[in-house]
Amino acid sequence: MPVTALVSAKSAGVTTSALALTLASGRPTTLAECDPAGGTIRAGFLQNQVSAGYGLYHLAKAERVGPDALANAFASHLWPLDGDGHRQLLPGLTDPAQAPALGRTWPSLAQIMRVLSDQAGQDVFIDAGRLALENGRLHPTLTPAPLLHQADLVLLVVRGTEQSLTLARYLVEPLISELAEHGTGPDALGLLLIESGPFRAHQVAESLKVPVLAALPFDAESAGYLTQGGQPPRTYKRSPLLQHARTAAAQLEAVAARRQIQQQYPPQPATAQLAGVLERLNRRRQGGGRG
Ligand SMILES: Nc1ncnc2c1ncn2[C@@H]1O[C@H](COP(=O)(O)OP(=O)(O)OP(=O)(O)O)[C@@H](O)[C@H]1O
Ligand SMILES: [Mg+2]
Repeated sequence: MPVTALVSAKSAGVTTSALALTLASGRPTTLAECDPAGGTIRAGFLQNQVSAGYGLYHLAKAERVGPDALANAFASHLWPLDGDGHRQLLPGLTDPAQAPALGRTWPSLAQIMRVLSDQAGQDVFIDAGRLALENGRLHPTLTPAPLLHQADLVLLVVRGTEQSLTLARYLVEPLISELAEHGTGPDALGLLLIESGPFRAHQVAESLKVPVLAALPFDAESAGYLTQGGQPPRTYKRSPLLQHARTAAAQLEAVAARRQIQQQYPPQPATAQLAGVLERLNRRRQGGGRG
């Protein structure tokens, strides 16, 4: 199952799309909210049910202790998004000032994502936030570059508007070179189109010279629920956003599977301690969700 990282130039719908893809998934799925500018799901969709004692920031401290502590911390900082704990969230930073502390944690976290995907058969979605560049390269602290390097797919989320395409255009070249040099290959990059604005998928692909791998409809009601939480709209489960998210997840999986077969890029071997994360996750699941 693929590791898919979502990024944007600016507020195109990364968090909402990552959440929709996770909630629409029929398989065990982990959503890691790794936006260095801070997470919004905790205060939004989850309406502050999750205390600041949970989440990504605590993994930085654990990583300094060692891989075993990190694997343990990762398993215990996941928050269930459904009753049976099949869909789980690693809540993001509560304060952007925490981001520099994560600098040395990203590579180990990237390995954990690979273990979840390659060995536990999970879908993994990563909210990697807005891309920040420095001298034409990914910024070392304001972008979780190692997570993008290890991803099967990196989705640049865009809308079909002139504003969105104008900002996204500047990210394409740096992303392609980054993925060619350090990632799973330049064709890991694709677009996730949010269908608002005048431009259709083929025009967006043509304009940015990157394929549109999936599209989600503009669905203000369901997106509003995923952004703010509260009472789900009555038709939420059958909403355009959720239905298309199901289709999109299947399309992304097919593209990732094709890439893996064509390229046969080698899975990175995980350390024994990080591989132990599987055992811990299974133990928690059998024990019934959080704890
Ligand atoms: N498919 C959609 N249909 C309608 N509205 C959407 C959709 N996706 C996102 N939105 C709305 O767009 C706004 C921005 O979405 P979101 O927070 O997901 O973007 P983001 O890329 O994560 O932004 P940021 O860069 O600020 O983290 C929110 O108000 C959200 O409800
Ligand atoms: Mg966001």
